[in-house]
Amino acid sequence: MFQPAYPIRTARLTLRPVTLDDLDDVYAYQSRPDVVRWMLGTGPRTREQSRASVVAMTGEDALRAEGDCLTLAAVTDTGVIGTVELVWRSRLDRTAELGYVFHPDHGGRGLATEAATALLDWGFDEFGLHRIYARCHGRNDASARLMARLGMRQEAHLVESYLFRGEWADQLVFAVLAREWRSRAGR
Ligand SMILES: CC(C)(COP(=O)(O)OP(=O)(O)OC[C@H]1O[C@@H](n2cnc3c(N)ncnc32)[C@H](O)[C@@H]1OP(=O)(O)O)[C@@H](O)C(=O)NCCC(=O)NCCS
Repeated sequence: MFQPAYPIRTARLTLRPVTLDDLDDVYAYQSRPDVVRWMLGTGPRTREQSRASVVAMTGEDALRAEGDCLTLAAVTDTGVIGTVELVWRSRLDRTAELGYVFHPDHGGRGLATEAATALLDWGFDEFGLHRIYARCHGRNDASARLMARLGMRQEAHLVESYLFRGEWADQLVFAVLAREWRSRAGR
């Protein structure tokens, strides 16, 4: 079983597993149309749907087997403002996929970047990953900018590669290798 030493503290955030008490905070952003605009498989969530999501996330506190998801709540003194996650895609290839969702009220301050950076640090330095990638809808500009800001390289622009709300959609794929992550300035 692999998990960070909780909590992870960054300059402005505490990162720790999601708890059932986080429902109000998570529902506050999962229920917003602008938050789920480019996300596959979900519209704005009802409170009951958010409850199910939070229950699922409470179990995502460690990586036990390939396919598992590690989800961390990003917490400020106002509560949970978002989550970052790593999905363990391949044990053999030491590869994981990064994901993130944040409340827009806390956007534009680099907090998602800060949380994702801490998770990538753990993924490469503690968990021993070789490659971390992330994907987004071709029109999810904020997500693409975040990946670029993290120092991830855009490796693909897949044209009409998946059905998104009944229409063919483009997908962007970004990735970073462990040696690239470590060679970034200041690391
Ligand atoms: C993707 C998402 C997390 C990005 O949020 P964000 O607020 O743009 O990201 P950050 O918190 O890292 O803030 C970065 C912004 O703050 C600015 N900023 C201010 N201070 C900063 C700092 N200290 N460090 C870094 N950036 C800073 C950056 O310039 C950037 O703005 P820009 O993109 O206009 O250039 C957010 O849009 C979101 O949750 N979207 C909905 C869910 C979603 O689509 N998830 C992805 C599915 S693929």
